[in-house]
Formats: sequence, C-alpha cells, structure tokens
Amino acid sequence: MNPLPRSLCFVFLLFGIAASAQTSADLMIRDTSGPVISRAIYGHFSEDLGRCIYDGFWSGDHIRMDVVDALRKIRIPVLRWPGGCFADQYHWRDGIGPRDQRKHTVNTTWGMVADDNSFGTHEFMQLCELLGCQPYIAGNVGTGTPEEMESWLEYLNYNGHSTMADLRRQNGRDQPWNVSYWGVGNESWGCGGNMTPEYYSDEYKRYSEFCKNYPGAPLKLIASGSNGDDYHWTETLMQHIGRGRVWGISMHYYTLAGTWQHKGSATQFGEDEYFKALSAGLRMEDIVNRHSAIMDRYDPRKRIALVVDEWGIWTDAEPGTNPAFLYQQNSLRDALIAASTLNIFNNHADRIRMANLAQTVNVLQALVLTDKDRMLLTPTYYVFDLYKVHQDAHSLAIQLMSPDYSYGGGKIPAVNASASKDSSGAVHITLVNLDPVRRIMVRARLEAGSFRSVEGQVLTSGHFNDYNTFDQPGKIKPVAFHGAKKEGDGLAVDMPPMSVVALELR
Ligand code: AHR
Repeated sequence: MNPLPRSLCFVFLLFGIAASAQTSADLMIRDTSGPVISRAIYGHFSEDLGRCIYDGFWSGDHIRMDVVDALRKIRIPVLRWPGGCFADQYHWRDGIGPRDQRKHTVNTTWGMVADDNSFGTHEFMQLCELLGCQPYIAGNVGTGTPEEMESWLEYLNYNGHSTMADLRRQNGRDQPWNVSYWGVGNESWGCGGNMTPEYYSDEYKRYSEFCKNYPGAPLKLIASGSNGDDYHWTETLMQHIGRGRVWGISMHYYTLAGTWQHKGSATQFGEDEYFKALSAGLRMEDIVNRHSAIMDRYDPRKRIALVVDEWGIWTDAEPGTNPAFLYQQNSLRDALIAASTLNIFNNHADRIRMANLAQTVNVLQALVLTDKDRMLLTPTYYVFDLYKVHQDAHSLAIQLMSPDYSYGGGKIPAVNASASKDSSGAVHITLVNLDPVRRIMVRARLEAGSFRSVEGQVLTSGHFNDYNTFDQPGKIKPVAFHGAKKEGDGLAVDMPPMSVVALELR
C-alpha cells in the first residue's frame, strides 16, 4: 500500500480536527428572566376543511372524546375556528338552532362538498369548554357585513336581554361565553377578498368599530396579517391601524419542501427534501425578526402582538385522498420542524403572543389523525407534549454556538434551543438536533449557577421519514432520556441525530 503524501495527511488531520469540533455545541443560558412565554403560543387551528371538523372533532352528532382527551393532555390553550379561508365564506346563523333544521350549504372553498352545518357556534364553544381552552373565532370580512359580525358577538357575549342573547338562550345556552380572541377576517390579501393592505386597513377600522366589548368580555382583536415575508403588509397596517384598537396582527407562514405546485410527499422523501424542508422551516426566525423590527418602529413598547395564527409544513395530500382535503401524514421530520419553530417562538415571546399550528386533526401538520373509530397521535403531537412545560413560564435568553448541518452546498445550524423557568423554579431546556447522522454533544451552562438534578425525555427514530400508522401507532413517541449528565457546574447533553430532547433541571 502506498503511504499517503505528507500534504494529504495534513489535510486529513485538519479535516479530522474540524469534523470532531463540529460535533459539539455550546449553550449558555442567561439568568435574567425574560418575557412570559404566553401559553397561547401553543395554540391550534381547526378549519371547516376536509376531515378536520367532520370526522376529526365531530362524529355524527357528538364531539369525539378520544380527540378531546388527547388534546387536554398537552394542555391545548387556544383553538382557532372556523377558518382559514373558510371563515370568509361562513355565515354563523347557518350553524345555530336545531341541527336537523340548519341550512345545507356548499363548502366552495374546500372541495365543493356539502356541509350540513351540524357543527356550528354551540358545538365549537362546547368543544372549547371540554378542551379547557380559549376560543379564537375568525369573523367574516370577505362575504360578511359589519352587522353580521356585530350580531355574532352579541349572541356570544351579551349577558342581558336582547334578540340575539335571547336567541342564544332559546338554543340552549343561558350564560354568554365571553369570547375574547377575535379575528377580523383571514388572509384578506388572498382568499379573504384579494385586498390591498390600504383597503384592508380601512375595512379593519370599519368592522372593528362594531366589535363591541360587552361587560365582562373585552375583545382581543386580531387583524388579518401578512403572507409570510410580505413586510409591506405589516408596515401598512402598523401605519394605519397601529394606534387603534388592535391586540394583534397575524402572519401566516407555511413550510414547503418544494414549490406550491409540487410540495413533495409527506413520507416518501430523501435527504434533499429533508434538508429543504428544515431550511424553509428555520426561515421563520428571519421572517419573525423582520416583522418584529417593523412593529418595533411603530410600537416600541410591544403593545401589539405578532400572532402567527397559521404555520406548519404543507406537503402533497396522501395518495388516494381528496386533494382539497389536505390530508397528510406526519413524519419525524415534521416533529423536528415543529420543535425548532416552537424554540423560535419561545425566543421571541416578547412579540409573539399567540401561534396556531395548522391544523389540529386530519389536515396539514396535524397532531391527531383519525380513521373511523381509530385515532393516532403524530410525532408533532409529542413535541407539543414535551414543550407544554414552557407555557406561561419565563423565557430565559440563550446564546448558542452550533455546528452546521451541511447538505448539497447549503448549511443550517444543526442545533437549536430555548429555555424557560417556571413558577416552581424548575428550568426547562428544549433542544433539537437536525443532523441526520451525527450525534452532537451540547455543553450547557446556566448563568444562575448549579443545579441538583436533571431529567429528560427524547423523541427520535431511525429515519427522518418514519411515522406512526394506525397499525403501528407507537413507533415514534418520547422515551426517558439518559444522555444528559452533570459536568462540573454545567451539563453535557449527548443528542442523537434527528432528535428533540426536553430537559428539566432542579
Ligand atoms: O390552512 C389551510 C389554508 O391555508 C387556510 O384556510 C388559509 O388561511 C391558508 O391559506
């Protein structure tokens, strides 16, 4: 065998040092308690679309309690309804009163399918009560009127006697529901009416004028926000309505592994689409930073929330299903995207005070999939389970030095993280390793000093496109993690490839 030339040995040596250096990350967790991570960041979205409501939450004439129980376990804080694009075609009076007398309509937004409106206002409010979560209703601006929105609010929130409040009583509900989160339209730049931001700002002012605060029910009004990186939309809204009555401005950003025409399969993909999807998911950080910077100029005291009320990965629909129903499986890759996105939201809790993953059951990046009586929990569900400890905790600022995960000429940070301290003093750290092959040793230090114990859980699997099926529902779920050890005053966390690790330090 020929000996290697000396120059090549040197290159290999350098490469070896670099490669081994790349397998560790440094994390510093500051002690200064940051803003509270609003529990509403862990919110969800349920549209009258495909099998999200019908077959998902609602079966025949009742709410599915298996789905409710699953969502209660992750402490679902808020649920958005009825859309999405559907919100701007929805007329709430179609969905009240005896179910067998409700209007039959056509869901022209999603698949031209018949809708018997058996799931309406009372059913949604009952669902939220069973879930123990806040309702977030998106009102109709596109095909509605201020009168329609005004009367829905009176129906929902007025405690006295009026035609609307008494109609509610006649339909079986005495007390008002005191709904607080209220969306004024949805995607008004597109399916909500193809408006310009200037026109929408005027519409927002007109509609919101008639959104009244009934006693005991102050509204948190949310303006329809931008399409991803449309910064002009946010700038215009801040200029025109930023000083008015607005609690939040929304923003929608979906992760694609391909293009809108060819989004790619939810389960049949290689490293190319894995890397593209992760890169696209991480763009959320830049998009949030840039919207926040615009909002900061008009609202330096951060009175107005950025509400990411639609996010998640959007793939091609599962073969053999109605493409308009947006039913997709959910892989380990999607869980890694969810975990990374929630880390971004935690780290921007000063401005982001609500977010809603699209969509809870059977649509897009769902937490729960159903098949007749059967139900399965997706890898993304388990991320929300691991991360629920951050809800209403104080965020802790972090500094992270991560090695890169490089692929096909591109690179992204392999590791991302966030941390918080809860009211009992426990520190929770959530870490993600996106690298598909390398373990990464994360060396963490707490500015506050030492801690006595560390416990953790890990979510991972052998392949990035592994997923849970109705026949094998437990393939991917969190298990106890034994890879975190005290190292002096710090912590060494040996992260498997493609993993989410959640730690509790006391
Ligand atoms: O979540 C599916 C659709 O995506 C929503 O209806 C719409 O708001 C967005 O374009």
